[in-house]
Amino acid sequence: MKRLIKISLFSLLIISLFSIPLLAQDQEIVTIAVGGNSVDSAKELANMYMEKNPETNVEILETPSSSTERLDLYLQFFEAKSSEVDVYTVDVVWPGILADHLIDFNDYGAEKIVDKHFDAIVENNTLDGRLIAMPWYTDGGLLYYRTDLLEEYGYDAPPKTWDKLEEMAATIQAGEREKGNQDFWGFLWQGNAYEGLTCDALEWVASHNGGQIVNSNKEITIYNDQAIKAIDRAASWVGEISPPSVTGLQEESSRHIWQNGNAAFIRNWPYIYSLGNSEDSAIKGKFDVSPLPGDEPGMSASTLGGWQLAVSKYSQNKEAAADVAMFMASEKAQKYRAIEESYNPTIKSLYEDEEVLAARPFFEDLYGVFMNAVPRPSTVTAPNYNEVSTSFFQSVHSVLNGEQEAAEALGNLQYEIQDITGFEIK
Ligand code: GLC
Repeated sequence: MKRLIKISLFSLLIISLFSIPLLAQDQEIVTIAVGGNSVDSAKELANMYMEKNPETNVEILETPSSSTERLDLYLQFFEAKSSEVDVYTVDVVWPGILADHLIDFNDYGAEKIVDKHFDAIVENNTLDGRLIAMPWYTDGGLLYYRTDLLEEYGYDAPPKTWDKLEEMAATIQAGEREKGNQDFWGFLWQGNAYEGLTCDALEWVASHNGGQIVNSNKEITIYNDQAIKAIDRAASWVGEISPPSVTGLQEESSRHIWQNGNAAFIRNWPYIYSLGNSEDSAIKGKFDVSPLPGDEPGMSASTLGGWQLAVSKYSQNKEAAADVAMFMASEKAQKYRAIEESYNPTIKSLYEDEEVLAARPFFEDLYGVFMNAVPRPSTVTAPNYNEVSTSFFQSVHSVLNGEQEAAEALGNLQYEIQDITGFEIK
């Protein structure tokens, strides 16, 4: 009897020793760091992948939705050479900051598929010939407006200039408050001190012909009359047509106010289109989208945004991770996200796909806006873009808060950017 127990214990040990590597192989885990509004659809894509690839377990690590906070977290993972995360969702402005920590997708068969994507994004994600991130979706800032309210107040089109937006927002706000909605505001945007403010403020500056902070010749251009005019103008909105709390709003917090029916206009990205039309939205079917206004008609500017999928060099499952990332960036996945969630594809042919255009007509109507979107100076200032952007948004934020005038803030900012980059001031 004793002997029997001994034998069976022994065989159990053998079996378990063998099954450890087998189990590990069976359940290869790929963890994706994703945040904010993309979490739900990342989970759906993960499920789609796992249905076809049962040997891989795709897990989602939820990270902060603020781009600025997410970068801080990633830098901690990379600093520690952590293998906890395999796939990182990467903002379009980060390749120059993160490249050293990421694998080259060309080593995993991406050359065959990458041609389908917009050249400019592939170029953005290619450093020293290494394709360090697969394009996932592209973004551009847009103006959303309430069609019912524009009609009610006698306007037949969205505003083409900031002056006109100010007039329309003030009129509608006054009218809605008179009707009893004291929480109603004319215009919402993202005024918190984070990367989102860099995007909004670049649109204000560029739509006044005030340049792009730093130009492609490595000259600092931000201290100019048009940029000053733009930032002072935005500061004048706070507490007038925009809530005082706008200086703390991000994409999601501003969307909630809008989606509850408490604003005439909002500046936001394409993803809020499908959410605004969801069943529980107070503004379902009551809004449309247009290019942002300019200082003069035709001077509209939309900041280029977007996200990529990258694989960590420190991953222990690089092959599987690259496969998951390439699936999430694939035509099938991008089509799904475009139709279900109004995320702009990075695959050119999807802008001619009948099902995509039927679900999202604005992809076609605003194609020019997306194609001409203004990039932030991330390539030219790499690897210091985050410091430059942080100086920019903090400086703009201080003007929005009434701490200083734009002339003073931007005057100082140019020296800060010079200290960070060593570039000349123009
Ligand atoms: C969006 C854009 C991204 C940008 C961020 C700022 O997610 O796609 O590029 O940095 O907003 O909040």
